[in-house]
Amino acid sequence: MSHQPHAVKRLSIPEFRARKGGEKLVLLTAYTAPMAALLDAHCDMLMVGDSLGMVVYGMDSTLPVTLDIMVAHGAAVMRRAQHAMVVVDLPFGSYQASPQQAFESAARLIKETGCHAVKMEGGAELADTVRFLSARGIPVMGHVGLMPQHMHQLGGFKAQGKDAQSHNEILHAAQAIADAGAFSIVLEGLMEPLAAEITRSIAIPTIGIGASPACDGQVLVVDDMLGMFESTARFVKPYATLRHDITAAAAQYAQEVRNGTFPGEAQCYGVVKTPAKKSAK
Ligand code: KIV
Repeated sequence: MSHQPHAVKRLSIPEFRARKGGEKLVLLTAYTAPMAALLDAHCDMLMVGDSLGMVVYGMDSTLPVTLDIMVAHGAAVMRRAQHAMVVVDLPFGSYQASPQQAFESAARLIKETGCHAVKMEGGAELADTVRFLSARGIPVMGHVGLMPQHMHQLGGFKAQGKDAQSHNEILHAAQAIADAGAFSIVLEGLMEPLAAEITRSIAIPTIGIGASPACDGQVLVVDDMLGMFESTARFVKPYATLRHDITAAAAQYAQEVRNGTFPGEAQCYGVVKTPAKKSAK
């Protein structure tokens, strides 16, 4: 398997949009500068998702995440992203009140992080906001289906679009966001036929997470993909087992500190060598 970087040039928003129906778009979340540096050349876009509230900060949901937190992590990722575009999530409460509120929050993210786009969760109720931001030069990525910021209303983190009513609501939500000028949309936790229908019916790329290969691209939470957690959603495929590697490394380090084999000579400065005693004849 080749570990060679794939991306050679950062896509622009029109180029990203033009990948609709073409070569699949590759996205991963990234929350820190070192992780961004490792993922950068392999991804078309890095997503600074508000999932960081749960993944990095151990929160129970994404709801407590603030704009300040997103600014700090967005800026960290931007410092190491050389090839990939970067989209930063607008956190809960920073955009739903009005298009003006959304513009102020999005403008702050763009000014203070240098990111290329913002993402927001919601359907037809956000269409005016997407139109307002897009008309003012802010590229918006939508997010429908399983929307973690709506977890209380949705009754938890469950796949969506199972019955005809919810199928139609999500289809119309995606169409409203696309018609309002979003350049792309995340489809999370959707039945495959619905993801396929949305992908066929809108002109912008759909990015799936738990929404089947019918989408124009895929995104995963990087810590899930690296095998950091014991249990994950069904749609996650772990490509590494970092949880085991980290546990094994910590256990070995602890053992070596306790038995005095770490630090060894190679890890010490200015070791004074005691001359070997001559054996008495
Ligand atoms: O917050 C997030 O990381 C996301 C992606 C998983 C789509 O919204």
